[in-house]
Amino acid sequence: MQAIVLLGAPGAGKGTAADGLQEEFGFLHVSTGNMLREAVAGGTSVGHEAEPFMQAGELVPDRIIGHVVEEVLDSHKGGARYMFDGYPRTLTQADMLDACLKSRASELNHVFYLSAPRGILVGRLAGRRICASCGANYHLVNVQPKVGGVCDRCSGELYQRPDDSEETVNTRLNIYEEMTRELADHYEKRSLLQPIDSSRRPEDAIDDITRILRSSEGGGQAVSP
Ligand code: AP5
Repeated sequence: MQAIVLLGAPGAGKGTAADGLQEEFGFLHVSTGNMLREAVAGGTSVGHEAEPFMQAGELVPDRIIGHVVEEVLDSHKGGARYMFDGYPRTLTQADMLDACLKSRASELNHVFYLSAPRGILVGRLAGRRICASCGANYHLVNVQPKVGGVCDRCSGELYQRPDDSEETVNTRLNIYEEMTRELADHYEKRSLLQPIDSSRRPEDAIDDITRILRSSEGGGQAVSP
């Protein structure tokens, strides 16, 4: 069974790539960020615990993350192919993921490491807008809706994520450097890492990932982008 990770800094384009890959490959999209935002909006106990960390742009404790991931995987039993977006973010979470997959007779096949210069990341996060109704992702300059402030898919209202403020974005990028970037070395040592230049157009990164996945599905050696 296939499992992949989309690894990268805030704004690297993990969510955008996940949208493009989900339908094509039938992955179960496991975004810990989305799950936590839903928990906050739903006023659950997980949401109450996670909210202060998210507002500050800090990582939510591994214990809570482990719980939400186990819960979503338990609710999708039976041959799912997993696409993890924004998880793992610490070495402890990486170990948790291995254990989680092993107990479901699955294993990690690829870690796609999306990267772009910090200036680009800041610009993407500052301009990001999200549909309040269906969650579709837009950008004030790069990915514009047909009508300003209105979702193309469902006509929902577009809003700015509270943690996309300038100050919180800087905290999130610094924490990524301190806590998460080391995962790239971790997975490189395990020969799972596939670097993807995500400073290009969204479809370029998606095409590279698609090519690698198709190649490994066909039984061939994974190719470089
Ligand atoms: P999460 O929701 O995971 O946020 P993130 O990792 O900070 O990532 P983003 O969603 O900001 O960026 P992205 O890479 O998905 O970029 P996107 O495609 O949207 O986490 C939020 C918080 O939850 C964390 O800060 C933490 O508190 C907590 N959390 C979550 N998971 C956790 C975990 N495992 N452990 C602990 N805490 C956790 O793109 C961004 C913008 O750029 C969009 O507007 C998009 O349209 C545009 N764009 C994307 N790609 C391109 C491109 N190629 N060219 C031009 N524009 C582009």
